[in-house]
Parts: sequence; C-alpha cells; structure tokens
Amino acid sequence: MTIQIPRGTQDILPGEVELWQYIEEKAKDICRRYNYHEIRTPIFEHTDLFQRGVGDTTDIVQKEMYTFLDRGDRSLTLRPEGTAAVVRSYVEKKMYGQPNQPTKLFYTGPMFRYERPQSGRMRQFVQFGVEALGSHDPAIDAEVLALVMSLYEELGLKNIKLVLNSLGDQESREAHRQALIDHFKPSISEFCSDCQNRLEKNPLRILDCKKDREHPLMKNAPAILDYLNEESRTYFESVKGYLDKIGISYVVDATLVRGLDYYYHTAFEIMAEGEGFGAITTLCGGGRYTGLVEEIGGPSTPGIGFAFSIERVIMALKAQQEVLPPTPTLDCYVVSLGDAAKEKTVELVYELRKAGISADKDYLDKKMKAQFKAADRLQARFTAVLGDNELSQGKINVKEMETGEQTEIELAAFIDYIKEKTIGGK
Ligand code: HAM
Repeated sequence: MTIQIPRGTQDILPGEVELWQYIEEKAKDICRRYNYHEIRTPIFEHTDLFQRGVGDTTDIVQKEMYTFLDRGDRSLTLRPEGTAAVVRSYVEKKMYGQPNQPTKLFYTGPMFRYERPQSGRMRQFVQFGVEALGSHDPAIDAEVLALVMSLYEELGLKNIKLVLNSLGDQESREAHRQALIDHFKPSISEFCSDCQNRLEKNPLRILDCKKDREHPLMKNAPAILDYLNEESRTYFESVKGYLDKIGISYVVDATLVRGLDYYYHTAFEIMAEGEGFGAITTLCGGGRYTGLVEEIGGPSTPGIGFAFSIERVIMALKAQQEVLPPTPTLDCYVVSLGDAAKEKTVELVYELRKAGISADKDYLDKKMKAQFKAADRLQARFTAVLGDNELSQGKINVKEMETGEQTEIELAAFIDYIKEKTIGGK
C-alpha cells in the first residue's frame, strides 16, 4: 500500500519552489530596507503559551491546535501562529533590555492548524510575519502597514484592499464588551453553543462566528468604533493620518474583528479582490497588542505586527496571471563520448561549480544524443562536448545553445571561457 501525504499539507516541488524562494527573498529584502531582523523560534512550544497568548476562547485554541504529550508527559503544541512564540522569546531573552529599540523582528516558517482544508486553507502553511515591539508611536503602525503593502506592490499584486479598524484600549473594549452582552443576551439561545459560552467570557468572538454569521442580530451589533474613548480615537486618527501622508489607501471597517484575542487599537486585514481568487479573500492579518508581553511574563510592552501565508500570496498572483519569475536554467552541461572523456567530465563539472557556474553531466550512461537531449531539457546555455579524441589533443567543443555557435577551445582554458561567457569572469 502506498502512503499518501497528510490532508491539508503539500509538497512543493522544483518548478514551483522557485516562486516560493522569490517571494521569500523579496520579503526578506524589504525587511532589510525597513531594518527588521530575522528570528527563528521552535516549531513546537508549551501548549500554555498559545492558550494564554492567542486566547483560550478562540477557534484556534479550542479547535485547531495540534497538541500532544511528549515522552516526558509535557503538553506541547505545533505552533498555530508566530506572534506568541516571538513574544515568548522576546521576554525570555530580555530583548527589551537591548539598546536598539523598538525591537523589529521578522520570521518565516511552517504553522499548523487543524482546519477543514480547502483552497487557501491548509493544515500546514508557511507564514511570513513581522513584529515591532516596544513602541507606542502610531507611526510604527503605519510603518508595519507600509512594509507589507510595499511588498505586495513589488510582487505585482493588484486589486488588494487594506481594511482597518480600531479595537480601542482596555476602557473602550470594556464599554464595547458590555454593549455586546446587552445586545446578544436576550436572544443568545438562538446562537450556537460556542457563542453561548462566549457571551460572558469574550462576546467579541461572537462577531467572528462562522456558524451564526447570518443571524439578524449580527448586522446591527454594536460597533467598536462607537465605543472608542478620546485617547483611542486620537490614536486611530493618527495612524490613518500617517497612512494618508505616505499615500497608502485603506478602508475603515468597524466590523473587522480578528480571530485572535491579543489585539488592542489598530487591527487590520488585507484582502484580495481579484476574480478567480475563490471564497477565501484574506491575504494578511495583523494589528497592535498591548497585554501579550505581560501575559507571557515580561514587562508591559506594546507590539504590532502582521502575518500572511505564502500559499495565499501565490494564489493571488496566479489568479491574476502575474508573470512569474522563470525557473533558473543551467549554465553548462558537459557531454562526453568515450570512457576517458567520461571520467574527465567529473573533474570538469567539479571545477565549473567551484568557479561559481551551475553545471551538470550524465550519470545514467546515456548515449551522446540522449545527453544532448538532457542538456536541452535543462535549458543549458552552453553544452560542452568532450570525446576521447579531443581529450587526447587537450581540446573541448563548446556550443552556445541559443545561437548554435560552436567553438573548439583549449581544455586548459575551458573553465575561464565559460566563466567569462556566463558570470562575466567575476
Ligand atoms: P491570522 O489572521 O490568524 O493572524 O493569520 C494570518 C494569515 O495567515 C492569514 O491572513 C492567512 O494569510 C494565513 N493563514 C492563516 N491560517 C491559514 C491556513 N489554514 N492556511 C493558509 N494560510 C493561513 C496571525 O496568525 C497573527 N499571528 C498575525 C499577527 C502578527 N498579528 C500580530 N502580529
């Protein structure tokens, strides 16, 4: 019996992986320009981290975590997101004490959620995210948004929409929370059991419920923007003001709530609006958090960040038929005829590669014609042909595939010749 890949996961094969590398490189390059530095944290963490960090009334914690006991009976969880882990490391490594503040970090890697797989929703997916910790300045909210919007622009993504909301500070949220309880309580029996449980614990989560989305009470539920106190309103105005100044457009949506509990003030999602994108339109989500660092045992520190999955960016690029980068080709394929020549090709490809040139040869005892075919398939820029005869005369034939031009050169000059023609003798 063959063993198949687990549901909700995927293999990314050569031919496709270049697109992933391209997006990851672009994202890293933009982080370099914005002075964000990479952090790598473990794939699994103590379960407690996510229960406290993401929030134990969220769908992620209640239904979607890959949690297991290790052989020492510790409860561990495959990370469903990156923020809690980054904050855990920030606290543990006392990054708040370092001279350069705010601490600006980015990360990329697989995340795991036990969700119902569909296009754009995987059980293992790769997030790219950033977190800026230690600043209350609304300008940094604008910076984080500028970073991701510029990245999407440079990737050539079109028809994307930045949706903003403010969830306010503690006081505003408390007022909104009470208004939500008053709104839903009289009819709560018409809602699903999850919502009933959430009513007192975390009524904001009701707005995020997938089952009760169509309930009439959802439409006129109290909107957080009406409950913002003066300070929260000023903060939100300031974030919007900075975005206006740098020319990043957005729409405000007072119904935007995020699926994780840690947000205060700015919350946002970036949506793909193009045709052919399917049911899932959220490319990226993020926002500001205040209590998370304290929750995890650190000093009271604000943070802001976002994450998106590479899978969804690829979907969006493909849906709009963006011209994607070509898969890299080979600089030189070395064809041989005869035993002595075949042996020599081992040295030649070794030397070529050492000189920085991508090179390959036959390992399947193919006839000369089949070796040429292989060179063609690999789209080699140059094919070098070495027969026993040429070898004994210290020569080699080089064909430039695009022009068909053939040159016989001294074997001793071969590496320099290809180097000159491909990477310009650097
Ligand atoms: P999130 O909204 O749960 O936020 O996820 C962020 C992004 O991850 C989504 O917009 C989507 O692109 C991607 N994503 C989530 N689940 C899946 C899935 N099952 N399959 C494919 N892609 C998925 C967070 O994770 C927060 N940690 C973001 C953040 C960072 N907030 C502050 N800092």
